[in-house]
Amino acid sequence: MKIGALELPNTFALAPMAGLSDVPFRSIAWQLGRPYLVSEMVSSKVELWETGKSRLRRVPVPGATPVAVQIAGTDPQVMAEAAKRHVDEGVEIIDINFGCPAKKVCRKFAGSALLADLDLVGRIVDAVARAVPVPVTVKTRTGLTTGDDLGVQAGCIAVANGAQMVVMHGRSRACKFNGSADYTAVRELKSRVDVPVMVNGDIDSLAAAQQALAVSNADGIMIGRGALGQPWLFAELAGNPVPDRPGKWQIICTHVELMHSFYGELAGLRIARKHVLAYLRNLGLAAQSKAFLQLNDAQEQLDWLLRMSRWDQQSRDAA
Ligand SMILES: Cc1cc2nc3c(=O)[nH]c(=O)nc-3n(C[C@H](O)[C@H](O)[C@H](O)COP(=O)(O)O)c2cc1C
Repeated sequence: MKIGALELPNTFALAPMAGLSDVPFRSIAWQLGRPYLVSEMVSSKVELWETGKSRLRRVPVPGATPVAVQIAGTDPQVMAEAAKRHVDEGVEIIDINFGCPAKKVCRKFAGSALLADLDLVGRIVDAVARAVPVPVTVKTRTGLTTGDDLGVQAGCIAVANGAQMVVMHGRSRACKFNGSADYTAVRELKSRVDVPVMVNGDIDSLAAAQQALAVSNADGIMIGRGALGQPWLFAELAGNPVPDRPGKWQIICTHVELMHSFYGELAGLRIARKHVLAYLRNLGLAAQSKAFLQLNDAQEQLDWLLRMSRWDQQSRDAA
């Protein structure tokens, strides 16, 4: 699968998830199965370029290509300038967020709220695509409410204005994350554009991936929440060996160490909690979550994980 002239290593991707799909998680996912990676959403406002949050979100994953950054905003010229700054730093693909339903983003009429103004969608993609020599892609939802076809229209308009791939999450903005994803709008979009389309929403297994591809006829899949606590899903999708249980514990420890070093121990240990809870759930150890949440020191977190992995191994040997 290609985005413009760039060949992707695989036809599956890790979805951008602000606060979750950061450099540590993307690094782990990349090592396991080489999914296409997109940064967490970065504001296009120049005054936010140097904030700690924006700087961390712009850090590329070592060794992972192509480097794609997602930008959010509403003003075509501001978005175009932001795209140029990213490309000057070495970014190879610019993704535009037309899908985020978060109030903080939508109040500023960005993300999925832009589906209410298709003319502006076209102008944003046009301005960004003209400003940079790299491929521009968009990520959208099915529409503003269930049943409207604004997402399909936005996808077509984006492509007409230069977008080289469209990702569609099979839910409307009004749905937020409720109900289950519906891939029929993705199929409609795919039939109407001549660039690759990725289907997104509720994919959390190989079987769910196959089902989403069959229903949508999309070229690839993008996985968000379904990869939390089980990034080895990318190994399975890639046809790589899936780590055994001790291997999974090793990945968890490496991931937690990466979070501590990337954010510093204080912020790192807070962010580690979200991921470790997902890992414990995935390993059938959700009952241990409370004990992990009580740890307030980075080294304590690592020691606890080591003890838990040994205990887990012993209880399995004994069973
Ligand atoms: C915590 C969280 C943060 C998200 N942040 C972003 C974001 O920064 N940009 C974006 O386009 N979508 C974002 N999304 C939406 C996901 O990329 C994806 O479209 C959505 O979760 C549906 O896919 P899934 O069912 O595989 O998770 C976010 C979702 C979650 C749960």
